[in-house]
Amino acid sequence: MPGGAAWKDAVSLHDLEALARAAMDPEAFDFVAGGAGDEVTLRENAAAFARRRLWPRVLTGVVEVDTSATMLGAPVSMPVGLAPAALQGLAHPDGEIAAAQAAASAGVVYCLSTVSTHPIEAVGAATDGAWWFQLYIQKDRALTEDLVRRAEAAGCRAVVLTVDLPVTGYRDRELRQGFAGRWDGLGNFDRPGLGDLSLRELIATSFDPRLTWDDVGWVRSLSALPLVVKGILTPDDAELAAAYGASAVVVSNHGGRQLDRCPASLDVLEDVVTAVGGRLEVYLDGGVRRGGDVVIALALGAQGVFIGRPYLYALAAGGEDGVRRALELLSVEMRNAMTLLGTPDLGSVTRSHVV
Ligand SMILES: Cc1cc2nc3c(=O)[nH]c(=O)nc-3n(C[C@H](O)[C@H](O)[C@H](O)COP(=O)(O)O)c2cc1C
Repeated sequence: MPGGAAWKDAVSLHDLEALARAAMDPEAFDFVAGGAGDEVTLRENAAAFARRRLWPRVLTGVVEVDTSATMLGAPVSMPVGLAPAALQGLAHPDGEIAAAQAAASAGVVYCLSTVSTHPIEAVGAATDGAWWFQLYIQKDRALTEDLVRRAEAAGCRAVVLTVDLPVTGYRDRELRQGFAGRWDGLGNFDRPGLGDLSLRELIATSFDPRLTWDDVGWVRSLSALPLVVKGILTPDDAELAAAYGASAVVVSNHGGRQLDRCPASLDVLEDVVTAVGGRLEVYLDGGVRRGGDVVIALALGAQGVFIGRPYLYALAAGGEDGVRRALELLSVEMRNAMTLLGTPDLGSVTRSHVV
């Protein structure tokens, strides 16, 4: 690819990944790209999409397609959000601020991680788009409560409680590289003894590993914002999320970074959708790399999807512009797939479009 702004010439998210690999420190790239153990689940997330086939109708006269949707009631240009991801300063100095601004200009949701390199307030002030705040519950409940209050004051529209990281997954690539995620002052942990810890140390010392569903109820009680429970893989847990007051779940295995050999998100999506029967919005992340993948997830019952690694690669390749390009590529691919399927809008994408 030509030098300079090579992200402009990317024709797929895979091109952006190749650019990021060249641009990033190897240990930072491996932190982003890697998964747990043998990376079976990491590969399965993508393989599950590759196993599905889109089943088109012809001669439908569909030319103009509309990808607009709502997520937790808010209008979005397409139901594709940016998943919470730690330490975005590793990809680009503007990190979370650049990613949030790209999401806002594309009209999609940005989800800010608890472990951001830029503080909550700076991200909130930099964007006028819809953003959600992802929470990891800390042993110090006052600190946890403070994080939620800060996010609410900074303008977030939902709290996303991640429940699949009581401990960090066993990640070979990080261990081999000796990667600890050391950052000069984690933006949201400006407290004595915490601000200077690496990500790995912070998780080990401050994150609460002993959580139960009662803690979900406690987070629910902290604010009137909608609560999203992220990291659900079974119908039973989705039903519990509904019972504990969640407005949505994210069917997710943390991008294959936690329990290796757990199922691909897409493979359990339909069972979760059936179990909650419309009581909750159901989102999915893990392995979404093409506009056609988005259409498949929606056809199988997701209200929307999130991407993780692809936008981190785009951030490394081109900052805010790179992330905008990634979202534009997904939008173009989605429209192309919908036109060829014969579905003019997302309401007309149904189970019958996937075999
Ligand atoms: C580098 C990296 C950091 C992540 N950090 C977080 C995090 O702080 N909180 C969280 O809930 N999920 C985190 N995730 C998981 C993502 O939110 C998401 O579930 C996953 O990346 C989706 O899979 P994909 O990368 O295949 O799109 C992280 C993922 C990556 C790749």
